[in-house]
Amino acid sequence: MARLSTDHLLGIRPLTPDDIEIIFRTADEFKAVLQRPIKKVPSLRDITVANLFFENSTRTRLSFELAEKRLSADVINFSASTSSVKKGESLLDTVKNILSMKVDMIVLRHPEPGAPHFLSRHIEARIINAGDGTHEHPTQALLDAYTLREVFGTLEGRKIAIVGDIRHSRVALSNIYCLQKLGAEIMVVGPPTLIPPTIDALGVRVSYRLREALEWADAANVLRIQLERQRVRYIPSLREYARYFGISRATLDAIQSPPIIMHPGPINRGVELDSDVADSSASVILQQVENGVAIRMAVLFLLAQKIRQSV
Ligand code: CP
Repeated sequence: MARLSTDHLLGIRPLTPDDIEIIFRTADEFKAVLQRPIKKVPSLRDITVANLFFENSTRTRLSFELAEKRLSADVINFSASTSSVKKGESLLDTVKNILSMKVDMIVLRHPEPGAPHFLSRHIEARIINAGDGTHEHPTQALLDAYTLREVFGTLEGRKIAIVGDIRHSRVALSNIYCLQKLGAEIMVVGPPTLIPPTIDALGVRVSYRLREALEWADAANVLRIQLERQRVRYIPSLREYARYFGISRATLDAIQSPPIIMHPGPINRGVELDSDVADSSASVILQQVENGVAIRMAVLFLLAQKIRQSV
């Protein structure tokens, strides 16, 4: 049986193209399970998973929880806002206390880049990064690439534009790593202040003109402006951002062969995307969300194999 080269999912950067292919093939099988009347399999019946969310989430938290339950894992949920973190408990103390309850895997969302990497050096449990600050969001990139593969058949030679707040986006970085490993070309586009000046070192094209990027791309992954991560103002106003970088039906109608539209959510309607695009046939946003469950089932299953291998 195919196995991942890594013991944790800390990011896309350490994965090989073979790892990504193994995750996709496993997700194909789980996606078929999810079409059945009984959408549950016993694959993780001996595994306990803790979902530790130190930052807000809707899609990722619910998608992981559903994936774990579809695999018959025992699941506990932790939210920092209602925990003893509020009384000053450290990340390591919190996690060590949870692990003493015999937890096998941790799904961690944390505002600090590198938090899952830090934990992986101090604890035995397998760790899945569910988003660490502005660094990586590996399962989002995997579900994005998996969705693109469903649409296009292969990512080889496909042109993908990543639009908006590249500077603060973990989705952008994980997508760049993932799509490049699968043979796609990437262009990032947004206001100069929201694109890191060193980004071309990653081998991506850079544009500051939305129309140029949309004319070039087969697909556009549109990002939210991450105001909560901006310590200084990078754009004059959301209204001005929407005027130059927001995508409406009229924007797409002006393009000869418009790209498909993706978004990791949550969408700020009327800012980066108008409803007449987000809810149109050009959008694969809900297909992304649907695929997220199968991708997360695949990652959990493949890491659980590693646990069983090691005992
Ligand atoms: N895409 C994503 O990470 O969404 P949530 O913040 O709702 O989990």
